Amino acid sequence: MGRVTLITHPLVQHNLTRLRDKRTAPQEFRRIMSEVAALIIYEATRSLAVQPVSVMTPLARARGSALQREVILVPILRAGLGMLDSILQLLPHARVGFIGLKREEKTLRTLFYHKSLPRDLSKFEVILIDPMLATGGSAVAAMDLLVELGARQVRLVNLVAAPEGIRKVHARHPRLPIFTAAIDQKLDRNGFIVPGLGDAGDRLFGV
Ligand code: PRP
Repeated sequence: MGRVTLITHPLVQHNLTRLRDKRTAPQEFRRIMSEVAALIIYEATRSLAVQPVSVMTPLARARGSALQREVILVPILRAGLGMLDSILQLLPHARVGFIGLKREEKTLRTLFYHKSLPRDLSKFEVILIDPMLATGGSAVAAMDLLVELGARQVRLVNLVAAPEGIRKVHARHPRLPIFTAAIDQKLDRNGFIVPGLGDAGDRLFGV
């Protein structure tokens, strides 16, 4: 089974709690999500492959390391955008692809409305970004697409995940590592994570 890394860092949990609070307005919500995303990505990139390199300091040669593969960040629209900017600050050389997915509210079926990705992902470390993992439908559809394009190294970064979503993703992509700040109790009958934080896209963009 793929791993789930629960990020229990106090700053992550402090910020997550503020995001859950329904009194947190969009302006504040965006800022906090951005901050928490940077902390989560720090943990999610801990195991990126590096290769040895050496450089000359002003005094002598020093041995060091460099990332082995190029990184591509893939936020799932819309809510994934809330985590993108601060992650890009930490990985300024990363490329960015986009997947637009909409969950039909009645059927919970997942529909693609946008795809913007390199044709071949085999040489990339892919970081798939979506704050919410609810039924898992969006993450599975996105992963299926990434794998179809040759992706071999993918990490899924979430803020809040439901047990149902984790199970669904790992049933189809057993080796996918998932990083999340919370594993919540359950889904309600509308497919919303409980207690969750509401609709992340709506709260980010005030719509
Ligand atoms: C929400 C959320 C995830 C998805 C999770 O997006 O941001 O992308 O649902 O649900 P799932 O695990 O059941 O697929 P939504 O489809 O509402 O689009 P939005 O980000 O544009 O609000």
